[in-house]
Amino acid sequence: MEVIIQPNYDQMSKIAAQIVVEVLNAKPNAVLGMATGSTPLGLYKELVRLHQKDQLDFSRVTTFNLDEYVGLPVNHPQSYHYFMHEHFFKHVNIPPQNINIPSGTTSNYPAFCEWYEQRIAQCGGIDLQILGIGSDGHIAFNEPTSSMSSRTRLKTLSKQTIDDNARFFERREDVPVYAITMGVGTILDARKLILIGSGKAKARAIAQAVEGPVTSMVTASAIQLHRDAVVIVDREAAAELTMRDYYEFIYAAKPSAPRS
Ligand code: GLP
Repeated sequence: MEVIIQPNYDQMSKIAAQIVVEVLNAKPNAVLGMATGSTPLGLYKELVRLHQKDQLDFSRVTTFNLDEYVGLPVNHPQSYHYFMHEHFFKHVNIPPQNINIPSGTTSNYPAFCEWYEQRIAQCGGIDLQILGIGSDGHIAFNEPTSSMSSRTRLKTLSKQTIDDNARFFERREDVPVYAITMGVGTILDARKLILIGSGKAKARAIAQAVEGPVTSMVTASAIQLHRDAVVIVDREAAAELTMRDYYEFIYAAKPSAPRS
């Protein structure tokens, strides 16, 4: 795992965007796994800027979002469909038919989840999965005790997650209790992972994910099992990492590290 510590949120977002650009340069028809939440907003803003300024091309890209709230229609302002269109899709040139987001309003969840997994496989698998992290250490909506081999399915949100996400809703009671989410196993199948974290509210979860035991109590710790995972954090989110100096040393020495 590579851990990159940046001075602030903007720098963190730029480094994450650079990794997306590298993947697209190497494979213009890459399959990208998308995340929602406030953390990736800066990354999406930077990708939109690069699209508008440098013609970063998404015309052959396919996307799969990690998760969606159950019960929210696509035009609900708090749905992840709405979020993705507002903050990213409507500003870039991904063909609409290449955009995949779990349905929060399907009539048959098990069948939909199975279809979503098949669709990822048909598209050749996810090349780069973008991840945020919940304050309870979750990735996507894989709450504590989610199996490390779980696939796309329905999950009940934890009290902590409902509390955290209540800030986006008028009332706490409005936060959906269920979500449809890619599983930890689905995420681990991606060829590359980037996990971004910002602010002191994430410091503990980041330390547990990077340096703690691999445990389904902190599903982000599953990234330790992945052979190409990059964690990009700002200083505040890095505050509880005990090996901080080592990560900074590695990153600073990276340009002169042997390549072959
Ligand atoms: C939700 C999403 C996660 C996201 C998390 C953190 O629970 N399902 O994918 O990582 O929120 O969100 P934020 O970036 O707003 O802290």
